[in-house]
Amino acid sequence: MQKILVTGANGQLGSEIRELASACAASLELVFTDVAELDITNLEAVQAFFRKENPDFVVNCAAYTAVDKAEAEKELAEAINYLAVANLAKASAAAGARFVHISTDYVFDGRKNRPYREDDRTNPQSVYGLTKMRGEEAALAYIGSMVIRTGWLYSNFGNNFVKTMLRLGAEKPQLSVVYDQVGTPTNAADLARCILSIIGKVAVREKEFVSGVFHFSNEGVCSWYDFAVQVMKLGKRPCKVLPIESSAYPTPAPRPTYSVLCKEKIKAAYDVEIAHWADSLEALRLFG
Ligand SMILES: NC(=O)c1ccc[n+]([C@@H]2O[C@H](COP(=O)([O-])OP(=O)(O)OC[C@H]3O[C@@H](n4cnc5c(N)ncnc54)[C@H](OP(=O)(O)O)[C@@H]3O)[C@@H](O)[C@H]2O)c1
Repeated sequence: MQKILVTGANGQLGSEIRELASACAASLELVFTDVAELDITNLEAVQAFFRKENPDFVVNCAAYTAVDKAEAEKELAEAINYLAVANLAKASAAAGARFVHISTDYVFDGRKNRPYREDDRTNPQSVYGLTKMRGEEAALAYIGSMVIRTGWLYSNFGNNFVKTMLRLGAEKPQLSVVYDQVGTPTNAADLARCILSIIGKVAVREKEFVSGVFHFSNEGVCSWYDFAVQVMKLGKRPCKVLPIESSAYPTPAPRPTYSVLCKEKIKAAYDVEIAHWADSLEALRLFG
């Protein structure tokens, strides 16, 4: 029996992993924690928890994800996205556990016009992006760590762009959404499936655990405007979506204008199949 510890398990990604738990091999036991059971910013608590549970794999879904609020809450964002990741990486290394940490496309500045590869230079433009970049470095300081960057995550669980659009689409006759930020929406269920598939293959020694950075998002490319139009269509909201430039919708945290991720490395290493973002969006229970 191999044990997988999932931290931040009440968030979007953690909840999707929980949903898939029953479909996991019987030889894998999952332990779910969120801040109430294990505050990952507390090194002593982390070390005590690891001594008790002795996990073989650790999947860190915990994060400070309020991108705009982070500009005013730098210390808190840093504590969760950076220092706590160092705690988990250290405890994982001491326990001999494989550490899978999740990061973001917002570590890039968005000035490229082709999909970002894992070894492209990071240059975060926001406090959130900076703290996530530091978290990546803290994880990768240990040999048994894998960082999976993703982008534009949404899910049946938690708060996200899809739910906001569905709510506003029911309230307003029209809505302006930026068209000059381009990326790829990612269904958190697809990322959850990918993570569990990688761990499953490593657990039965079908694949090696490869340390380092990987990218995972759904396939395809769109703007937030395109994403919003598709949500309104699938959600049957009679709301007209108007394309605007980011300069007309200023936010405390700047976002990359282009943050499409190249997924070739993860596909080749772990035989991962990835759905197009529009198909994955349509599959969401919210539209059922
Ligand atoms: N959301 C996106 O669009 C997006 C895009 C790219 C990458 N990512 C990355 O993907 C990963 C998963 O994101 P998500 O959207 O699933 O995040 P989420 O929904 O915000 O969930 C994060 C979870 O972590 C918990 N948490 C916060 N502080 C903690 C602590 N000290 N100890 C333990 N748990 C703590 C949160 O609890 P509270 O709710 O009580 O704070 C929450 O349940 C994160 O690494 C994120 O940076 C997300």
